[in-house]
Amino acid sequence: MKILFVVTGGIAEYKVVEAVRFQVKAGNQVKVVMTQMAKQFVTPLTFATLTNDIVYDSFEASTENPVAHIALADWADQIVIAPATANFIGKMANGIADDFASTVVIASTAKKRVLPAMNVNMWNNPAVQRNIEQLKQDGVAILEPAVGALAEGYSGKGRFPDAEIVNAFISEPVEKTATTFSGKKIVVTAGGTREAIDPVRYIGNESSGKMGFALAQKAEQLGAQVILITGPTNLTLAEDSSIQRVNIKSVADLQVALERAVQDADILIMAAAVSDYRVAQVADHKMKKDDFNGELEIKLVENPDILANLKRPASLKYVVGFAAETNDLITNAERKIQKKKLNMIVANDVSNHQIGFESNQNAVTILRPNHANVELPQNDKTVIAEQILKLIDQEIN
Ligand code: PMT
Repeated sequence: MKILFVVTGGIAEYKVVEAVRFQVKAGNQVKVVMTQMAKQFVTPLTFATLTNDIVYDSFEASTENPVAHIALADWADQIVIAPATANFIGKMANGIADDFASTVVIASTAKKRVLPAMNVNMWNNPAVQRNIEQLKQDGVAILEPAVGALAEGYSGKGRFPDAEIVNAFISEPVEKTATTFSGKKIVVTAGGTREAIDPVRYIGNESSGKMGFALAQKAEQLGAQVILITGPTNLTLAEDSSIQRVNIKSVADLQVALERAVQDADILIMAAAVSDYRVAQVADHKMKKDDFNGELEIKLVENPDILANLKRPASLKYVVGFAAETNDLITNAERKIQKKKLNMIVANDVSNHQIGFESNQNAVTILRPNHANVELPQNDKTVIAEQILKLIDQEIN
């Protein structure tokens, strides 16, 4: 694979040094173009040393090839713009070619991947968001920035993501993206279960279904046939969605639906928040206060652990669980991945109201047997969903 990195001016450039090194070590041919501003943060000598090549930074500097911008544009299988500044994104979205780097990009028909990194207010600026939407419509792949501490003392969305995420994004085969999971059947569970107390009351939890829906929708976008088994939620799917939705309430409903759905499935992702207990004796009429003397005791019995006991058909190659924890996140997740015999567990801290239940965002740690843990910092659940699916793709393909 011939990868052309276009490095534009931002503090996150030092992380791009690592990304270039990773791709060279992976056996790819790598060349680097730098903008004039980029050279103020990291010297061209750093990239030249890593790639064992010159760094391309101006029309003049490329005199051994009179049309260097076209030669580079034609050479690349993919162009990675990292870090991508708001200015460079604006140029790409509007077809502006006013320097060497932007001219190379506009002259190339290669797959383009953009990794923006900037201040949170710049990222949220409507003009930047319009430009990002334009690039997506033009078929450019965007790795959305992560949420967290930013260089200037700000905090928010704008960080260059961690190396593992960046490397997976750049390494994804060019012909993939929309067809990553084509031919694969993925079952996703979402939302919380409800265990009836009487005809009008139940024991439930705070799960909104957002994490599971994001996974199902991303899997569909990546070409999978998706069955989404969901507890009660207000969330809806697009009218033209191909996702097969199965609504359930109780753990018993979930178990029946899941056993049917996984029959010829390839991947199961269990994001549903499942009640560990149900009411031993569900009242057949609405319970009245007068029936009790100021105190009501309800006996609960344990529900089956669906994931641990699921009969797995031969087709089911990859099983992912979620661990919702309020304390000892990693220790508890480690215990669950073993007990439930999972290929991956996604651990989230549900004591933090910025993430986990109900929020549009999550921050998770991915645990897999024989792999170092991967932190996915706080981001929209749609972005977290995509990052989880990319890690699954790396393992099964
Ligand atoms: O829906 P949102 O508001 O977006 O919130 C998302 C979420 C916080 C619910 C989600 O990210 C999450 O953590 N889901 C798992 C919740 C949970 O039930 O965790 P657990 O640690 O209790 O269970 C571990 C795993 O075993 C889970 O995959 C669960 O689906 C499964 N399980 C649990 C109990 C049980 N009896 N049977 C099971 O199969």
